[in-house]
Amino acid sequence: MDMDSIVSLCKRRGFLFQSSEIYGGLQGFWDYGPLGVELKRNVKDAWWRDMVSGHDDMSTLAGAPSPYAMEGLDCTIIMHPQIWKCSGHYDLFHDYMVDCRETKKRYRHDQVNGRWVEAKGKKVFVTAPASDEEQEVMTKRALKFFGLRNKNIDDLKWDGDVVCLTTIEDFGEVLGPDAKEKGTLTEPREFNLMFKTFVGALSGEEGAAYLRPETAQGIFVNFKNVLDSTRHRLPLGIAQIGKSFRNEITPRNFTFRSREFEQMEIEFFCHPDESHKWYQFWRDRRLKWYHDLGVSSDNLIMREHSPEEAAHYSTGTADIEYAFPFMAEGEYGELEGIAHRGNFDLRSHMEGKLDEKSDTLEVQLGDDGKPKWKGSGKDLSYRDDLSGEKYIPHVIEPSAGADRAVLAFLCEAYEVDEQPDEKGKMQKREVMKFHPRLAPIKAAVFPLVKKDGMPEVAKEIYLTLKKDFKVFYDEKGSVGKRYRRQDEAGTPYCITVDGQTSEDQTVTIRDRDTLAQDRVKIDELASIIRNRIES
Ligand code: GAP
Repeated sequence: MDMDSIVSLCKRRGFLFQSSEIYGGLQGFWDYGPLGVELKRNVKDAWWRDMVSGHDDMSTLAGAPSPYAMEGLDCTIIMHPQIWKCSGHYDLFHDYMVDCRETKKRYRHDQVNGRWVEAKGKKVFVTAPASDEEQEVMTKRALKFFGLRNKNIDDLKWDGDVVCLTTIEDFGEVLGPDAKEKGTLTEPREFNLMFKTFVGALSGEEGAAYLRPETAQGIFVNFKNVLDSTRHRLPLGIAQIGKSFRNEITPRNFTFRSREFEQMEIEFFCHPDESHKWYQFWRDRRLKWYHDLGVSSDNLIMREHSPEEAAHYSTGTADIEYAFPFMAEGEYGELEGIAHRGNFDLRSHMEGKLDEKSDTLEVQLGDDGKPKWKGSGKDLSYRDDLSGEKYIPHVIEPSAGADRAVLAFLCEAYEVDEQPDEKGKMQKREVMKFHPRLAPIKAAVFPLVKKDGMPEVAKEIYLTLKKDFKVFYDEKGSVGKRYRRQDEAGTPYCITVDGQTSEDQTVTIRDRDTLAQDRVKIDELASIIRNRIES
């Protein structure tokens, strides 16, 4: 897989465009084009149907400790600022950044690597953004810094291994990743990732509010509303799909790290004694979802966090990771996290901000002497009407990124092969082998030629199918070229009206992956396509 080819196909065929492109673009923001918007909608619809609306709440699913209920929610992006204080985002949701005084560029402290190098009696810590090509970049930069030519490469005396900028204390001898002079980087500073805005006419801190950095908190603060309005008993999962915003210091790798993105999150509320079984269940169920939609197991891993990596209140966290083509060999990027969050979030919204390390209430007094991070004071515990037991539910959180899932499905689908054209000459074919459920266009309809009544019949088929599926009509160019265009769009089926159609009311249906062409009755097209998509 070659990322540049995927990015170029995405732009050329209208999957993804850089946001505000005609004004030079805005880093970390992406627009979905006509094909992209269908693909993303299909990913979100598949998730919603498989996890929420189509969920079988009458049976015990394989691996589940018991039947369970699922409900959905759609909360606002801007919520009461106290929510972010109690959730910990106000205090803890930050990265460290360094600025370059020379280039005015900003870097995440932990994403810059470097190595000490000596030449001409001077020593400098030469840096580069962390990547698998960093040594190559550093060598070029070191040669330039010391005014050496390529043939003098042996004059560079490297000292020690490549290390992260976080290990360096004095920045005086550091050559910043894009700087010409050394010593231009500032000391690392904390940078909160939440976008701040102001609600109403109040412009000061009184009106300050934040764009949500995750959809999860909207679910926690509505837990009681959903429970009371649906009268479900636990276990209950509440799902939400929606935009989240993070002012990432270094957005990169196409849509992988964006500043505006969509999440698909479930908060699953259950009895504390059952929570470990549910954690295992959700890990397996979420991994299977990606497999069922065509992501090969070679490219997908489940990585359990070490105890040091996981939050103290979490007794289990695992990431589902994908081998994105922009990652170094053997490395994977996070698609989704599945976390056992205990009762931390519900307790925080009841009592106030809990200390991340000790799980005790952290009381900080404001200037007015009142606790700064006051909780809602509402009782968010659950009383089981059969056993009479009252407890604060434990939560399992499968939290997926819709844009990262789309990116993984794009990368997984991309293939290049060779197919014969109409004259039998082998031609390179770029094909997006999406699972038919996810494919932006389900079928394309062509008249073989633009005469003999074929366009009229093809248009009628197109208009009939359009009521049920996203379909595309094309009569331009040779049929071979029309197939290629649909292969690039990932359309699984191409229907061709030909000379035989007027005789027996049949058409051919060509499969994108096997290239097999079956002759089928026009009346049966809709059910054939439906069956193939669902199988
Ligand atoms: N409520 C838990 C939570 O938000 P997270 O690991 O920070 O956890 C969950 O985010 C998922 O959201 C990630 O696994 C990823 O798929 C997606 N995500 C997070 N930050 C993102 C970003 N800057 N751009 C695109 N997707 C992002």
